[in-house]
Amino acid sequence: MKLFSSMAAALVLMSAAAVSVSARPSSGLLPYQDSALPLEERVSDALSRMTTAEKIAIIHAQSKFSSAGVPRLGIPELWCTDGPHGIRPEVLWDEWNQAGWTNDSCTAFPALTCLAATWNPEMAALYGKSIGEEARYREKDVLLGPGVNIYRTPLNGRNFEYMGEDPFLASVMVVPYVRELQKNGVAACVKHYALNNQESRRHTTDVDLSDRALYEIYLPAFRAAVQDGGAWSVMASYNLYKGRHACQNSRLLKDILRDEWGFDGAVISDWGGVHDTGQAVTGGLDLEFGSWTNGLSEGKKNAYDSYYLADPYLKLIAEGKADTKELDAKAANVLRLMFRTAMNTDKPFGSLNSPEHVAAARRIAGEGIVLLKNDRGVLPLDMRGKKKIAVIGENAIKPMTVGGGSSSLKVREEVSPLEGLRRRFGKEADIVYARGYVGEQLKEHDGMALLDLTDSRTESELTAEAVSVARDADYVIFIGGLNKNPHQDCEDTDRAGLGLPYGQDRLIAELAKVNPDIIVVNISGNAVAMPWVGDVAAVLQGWYIGSEAGNAIADIISGDVVPSGKLPFTFPARLEDVGAHALGEYPGNAEALKLGADTVPEYYSEDIFVGYRYADKARTAPLFPFGHGLSYTTFAYGKPEADSRQLGADGSITFSVKVKNTGRTAGKETVQLYIADKKSSLPRPPKELKGFRKIELAPGEEKVVTFTVGKDELSYYDDSKHAWVAEPGTFEALFGSSSRDIRGSLTFRLVD
Ligand code: BGC
Repeated sequence: MKLFSSMAAALVLMSAAAVSVSARPSSGLLPYQDSALPLEERVSDALSRMTTAEKIAIIHAQSKFSSAGVPRLGIPELWCTDGPHGIRPEVLWDEWNQAGWTNDSCTAFPALTCLAATWNPEMAALYGKSIGEEARYREKDVLLGPGVNIYRTPLNGRNFEYMGEDPFLASVMVVPYVRELQKNGVAACVKHYALNNQESRRHTTDVDLSDRALYEIYLPAFRAAVQDGGAWSVMASYNLYKGRHACQNSRLLKDILRDEWGFDGAVISDWGGVHDTGQAVTGGLDLEFGSWTNGLSEGKKNAYDSYYLADPYLKLIAEGKADTKELDAKAANVLRLMFRTAMNTDKPFGSLNSPEHVAAARRIAGEGIVLLKNDRGVLPLDMRGKKKIAVIGENAIKPMTVGGGSSSLKVREEVSPLEGLRRRFGKEADIVYARGYVGEQLKEHDGMALLDLTDSRTESELTAEAVSVARDADYVIFIGGLNKNPHQDCEDTDRAGLGLPYGQDRLIAELAKVNPDIIVVNISGNAVAMPWVGDVAAVLQGWYIGSEAGNAIADIISGDVVPSGKLPFTFPARLEDVGAHALGEYPGNAEALKLGADTVPEYYSEDIFVGYRYADKARTAPLFPFGHGLSYTTFAYGKPEADSRQLGADGSITFSVKVKNTGRTAGKETVQLYIADKKSSLPRPPKELKGFRKIELAPGEEKVVTFTVGKDELSYYDDSKHAWVAEPGTFEALFGSSSRDIRGSLTFRLVD
């Protein structure tokens, strides 16, 4: 430590002497301070004034969530915050525990699965704008999100933080989020780049897959966030890819991110994702966070000096084992991030918990809740002549904005589903609540006590009470599913299986026996098995929807909002119907797992057949398919038309389809376009999503929806050529209300 401090001092002197400081212009501002000058000029000017030690200081953390600025030059610190769904409460300098501030309660927005389920880029823009304003008000420079890892298996404990199984859907949705967020002078940090598709063994899983699967499935949403969204930072993930940790992986961070995509922002490590100085230096990482996750474990006076990109890097430079070119590049990338955020003098002030943000959370939730099933039109509830609603289930009262890992929040208000239903129906009906089941109760999260929901009754006592409440109710609303506890929807652990925990299947079956008008609201960020699905009248997919959860659920149940969400991932009937489980390796190569190897290889043998691509290929019948979601009205699709049946390599075809609201209530429909390649040199999925539009229609109203298709929509990635290829031949355009509800199709040809 002493050695490096004195070495650092020597380097400070050395490089300060070498620095040529230009004269102060007449404006009184130095070039790097002058926001009228081009960004690159300011970055190189600032860099030219910095010593080696100052450059080192800005490329690693100085606390749990901040990195140092350059105090001598008035360049401020950089402050990061989780997470994708709201602004994390302040934590202690070196610890995950909350700092106990009283001004850091936020609005919790719906989890990103719910955002993806809106299939509405306008909702993504509203989300980015709102969360950006909250981040800005809390003086944060970098928001650690959004997450766009592809949903490969329903067991991944972190799927709720991502945007589903389809690269096209995730790509379209991530762009407006990033753009609107960054208008606040707050950087998006798109995560977790790349291939962090499970939480089980997330630091030691060594993913391998074909380049085709990498480019067609796992990278597109990251590319879109960077190239189309203009993301200012990217978070490198924990896992390994082809033998190298992602934070130190030059194929991912240099060849693809920088060279192919032209990324000019900063690559930030996931917290504790760096393992080696040499590899981090050459591998393309810019900013190291979270090594030894309490910041102090190395037993040094200041463990941050021991970070891989701190004193050990200085030592390499001092010994001549690393040149300063890489350091300059890293410092420039971090400076660019600082100028765009902390040093941005034009950024707005932001706002916290404004009525607009609360309304945005409710609106996004209302558009994202998915009506999976609605027999006999039981929803929306018709209360005429009805007096009693039984609400059953732990998730009706359990706060869901807390837990689940780094996305856990401290909210100003969270309206529980029970409270939301009481507010909406309390005047016209008796609302009777029974717990029904009890999940495991955690006592605290990040040092804060959790709501005490302990209940010592046995399963048969709880069931008996719930059944008696359900028996004489007009409607039963069961609110269950998963929660944010470990091994459910929670960071760092995966689920043990597809089934619901805590005996909920048994309970729902008992309830359905005594009351056919049972509506199940499944709260989860993942697909779950529903062995009772045929016995209940309606099922809603309720996600984790944040501060306005109860109000948004009541909006849908009452019909104040007509459901319009569509599934962003498949609900498989069985785990074996998922490509990763049927064909690929999970949670790692079985032999290596048995041997207890330090890092465990995992080959994605299912390749490009992820989600509905596999379900279509294997011809399985999902419980609910990708893109599925009902409404309280009905839509009729006309015969699709095309302005041509043929396109050349540089041409395009415009398709149109008329959609009419044939019901009695206004509603929104998402028209989905899938493309099928009828014959190809490489195997292709039976169909792939290549367009979607969400439209609103009054009763009887008809609109024409158009899609333009060019070679990008027809291409596959050819590994051997390292290029996208649009192969001439016959294609089919399929127009549907879900991936399994195709209402019309047209064939067309791509010609040379
Ligand atoms: C998570 C990241 C998060 C970071 C900081 C890590 O454990 O994987 O998503 O942003 O912690 O909390």
